[in-house]
Amino acid sequence: MGREFQTVLAALLKILPDYEDMLVENLVRPFILKDEDYKLLMDIMLGEFNKGLGKETNPTAKVKMYPTYVRDVPDGSENGNFLALDLGGTNFRVLLINLNGQEVTMESKIYLIPQHIMTGTGEQLFDHIAKCIHKFMSNHDLLKEKIPLGFTFSFPCKQIGLNHAILTQWTKGFKCEGVEGEDVVRLLHEAIKRRGDIDVECLAVINDTVGALMSCAHSDRDCAIGLILGTGTNACYIEKLENVGLWDGDYNEPNQVMINTEWGALGDDGCLDFVKTEYDRQVDKHSINPGRQIYEKMISGMYMGEIVRLALEKLRKHGLLFGGKGSEELSTRGRFYTKYVSEIESDVDDHFKNTKQVFEELALEKYSDEDCRIAQYVCSLVSTRAAFLASVGVAALLNKMDRQDVTVAVDGSLYRFHPHFHDLMEEKIQQLVKPGIKFKLMLSHDGSGKGAAIVTAVANRLRDSGKESIGENGLEN
Ligand code: GLC
Repeated sequence: MGREFQTVLAALLKILPDYEDMLVENLVRPFILKDEDYKLLMDIMLGEFNKGLGKETNPTAKVKMYPTYVRDVPDGSENGNFLALDLGGTNFRVLLINLNGQEVTMESKIYLIPQHIMTGTGEQLFDHIAKCIHKFMSNHDLLKEKIPLGFTFSFPCKQIGLNHAILTQWTKGFKCEGVEGEDVVRLLHEAIKRRGDIDVECLAVINDTVGALMSCAHSDRDCAIGLILGTGTNACYIEKLENVGLWDGDYNEPNQVMINTEWGALGDDGCLDFVKTEYDRQVDKHSINPGRQIYEKMISGMYMGEIVRLALEKLRKHGLLFGGKGSEELSTRGRFYTKYVSEIESDVDDHFKNTKQVFEELALEKYSDEDCRIAQYVCSLVSTRAAFLASVGVAALLNKMDRQDVTVAVDGSLYRFHPHFHDLMEEKIQQLVKPGIKFKLMLSHDGSGKGAAIVTAVANRLRDSGKESIGENGLEN
């Protein structure tokens, strides 16, 4: 080899890492949004909230802003034994909850919902749920008792009463025939009746966001937003009745109601297209509900791992990762779990212990420290974008409510297990809220159980009075 060529080659090898970095950067740059983009997105979100709230504009709005029948936070005097069902999160659970003032005890059991039931018929789904309730009651020696039940049903529903909720459309991988357009409490009661061996009445149905808010408000009266960052994402908040065009209940005190925003559907009319990446488009295309829940698909746990996987695959195919050699696992849709993102980002030093473990699980044979660093970088871009996008929604709500001090109750596996989500959100929300508004992000514990029990406790007190919504001290309205 000529001397000159060797010198050129040496020089090239020196700049190669920089050049590679540049190529990597080019492929993942679309995940990086500017401050102005986030500000614009907040204005878009705010516009969508108002569209959903307006009587005339609601029919064409994508963010539906459903009024719930919960009008106030709990006063802490709720007590008794309650059953709760939690459907729509990572797991399906049946719970037994005892409320006694601030003291809450809880027992719960996770039951599997097999894939064929998630996408089968409604009758199969509710028969399965009734079977699980029976099993749970039998194991807890409750078969002879009559215990009120609260149902945390975490899908978009138009509520027409505290225990009437009409599913508008399935989200998050569920698609059971014959349930959309139906009252899910009626379907549950029918399944219970078909069995004939349990005496259970569902007194309240709530969204998981409402559960989170209620559960946190039990000990913090400033709590006015419930946020879920888990399999899906959504938020609820307390709105003044005068702003709720769809409200058809009374205007007694308290003149407010919790609104289930169903913000996951933001973007279903194309308004997020300017920030979507090719990876987002692919995730949407291969999902069970293409074109729907666009904002949710850019944020939540059901999709984050897949977005990262697609980006890693792209880098790999360009020879920028793993020396271009992947694995069947890495090429398989859904195989890069969202928990990997949290694990990889939890590595704090150059040993990359978790990252290498993930690579092993993906049967990758050859990887360098540089590969670890790149994978970590991709994960952090995708999760940071998710945290900032969620912050846009929270800031829009805070600015809209315009209260001085607000506690945001947050629940969900993504928020709980990701090492930086909380800090990233605090930083971004702070940038976006009007000066003077103070907020706190608080982890809400077991809202889907405790929140359902609290609402059911009040509903139980109300049931004989013929009242339809829960208001001041649970006694009015
Ligand atoms: C989905 C559901 C919504 C729920 C959220 C979080 O967006 O449509 O009702 O609150 O997931 O579980």
